[in-house]
Amino acid sequence: MIDIVVEAKNLRKTFGGLVAVDDLSFSVMTGECFGILGPNGAGKTSTIKMIYAFSPPSGGTLNVLGMDISRHARAIKAKIGVCQQENNLDPDLTVLKNLEVFASYFNIPAAEAKRRSRELLELMAMEGRAASKPVELSGGMIRRVVVARALINRPELLILDEPTTGLDPQSRHQLWERLDVLKHNGLSILLTTHNMDEAARLCDRLIIVDRGRLVVEGRPPELVRRHVGRHIIEITDHNEPVRAFLRERNVPFESVGHRTLVGLENGEELCGRIKERFPDAACTMRMANLEDVFLRLTGRELRE
Ligand SMILES: Nc1ncnc2c1ncn2[C@@H]1O[C@H](COP(=O)(O)OP(=O)(O)OP(=O)(O)O)[C@@H](O)[C@H]1O
Ligand SMILES: [Mg+2]
Repeated sequence: MIDIVVEAKNLRKTFGGLVAVDDLSFSVMTGECFGILGPNGAGKTSTIKMIYAFSPPSGGTLNVLGMDISRHARAIKAKIGVCQQENNLDPDLTVLKNLEVFASYFNIPAAEAKRRSRELLELMAMEGRAASKPVELSGGMIRRVVVARALINRPELLILDEPTTGLDPQSRHQLWERLDVLKHNGLSILLTTHNMDEAARLCDRLIIVDRGRLVVEGRPPELVRRHVGRHIIEITDHNEPVRAFLRERNVPFESVGHRTLVGLENGEELCGRIKERFPDAACTMRMANLEDVFLRLTGRELRE
């Protein structure tokens, strides 16, 4: 069995003069859940469209399941499952028919297609809605059907572009639990997301990209320790005196509007001292998380 399911080396995608993916190199290992994170327009969708052989790379090399994408696109497509950023079920067909028709693209015989479709709808807790049309379903239900459909050819690699964007917390957790099951069954998963809880919960390893370029790669807990520390202290008022206090002590901090943030390995002592010195400032300490890493590395300003 191959141990690398996706290997991208110096991958590039350009649209005219725009460089959407710029010299990106990374590997996805068999059986892992790998995340691509980045702000809007960072190049996530452009990257995975090349991986599922929808759009050809403008440069670099790309191997998927041990095959070169430029020569074996058909064979690769047969062995992967894809959930695009947009939900694209056929609105005229029932849920079950959507899956069965999709199965026919892979030349799966009708009886087998029906069996697999029912089995997958059950896995996604959608068996009760097999006869519904997409318009009758909620966003979360549609997403689960799209994931079920992506599994119809028993793929070796599942690719998900923002699987839970727009879903409420219940639907999100429901989908995460199902992705956990798939992962534990050995499926390799590649996903993009803006949701840092999702990345921390699902991804074994991830990369953050910005403006098409690799910013950082690693395991979520390691990234937090390396780039922020264990704790974050947030102070929400008395900004100028608090910042002067921190400067005097050479403590690096970030100013975010009227919040002052300090990331450090052990924040207890400093938090105590700030509270002592500024008794009526709101000073709280919490565990640092992936969102802190993301914001620190990709900047806090809003992009177009
Ligand atoms: N078909 C296209 N033609 C021209 N430009 C494109 C095309 N597809 C994407 N782009 C541009 O490439 C850049 C990267 O877009 P991409 O969709 O890959 O970003 P993304 O990281 O998926 O963003 P989002 O989080 O908003 O989905 C953007 O500047 C986008 O406008
Ligand atoms: Mg996208």
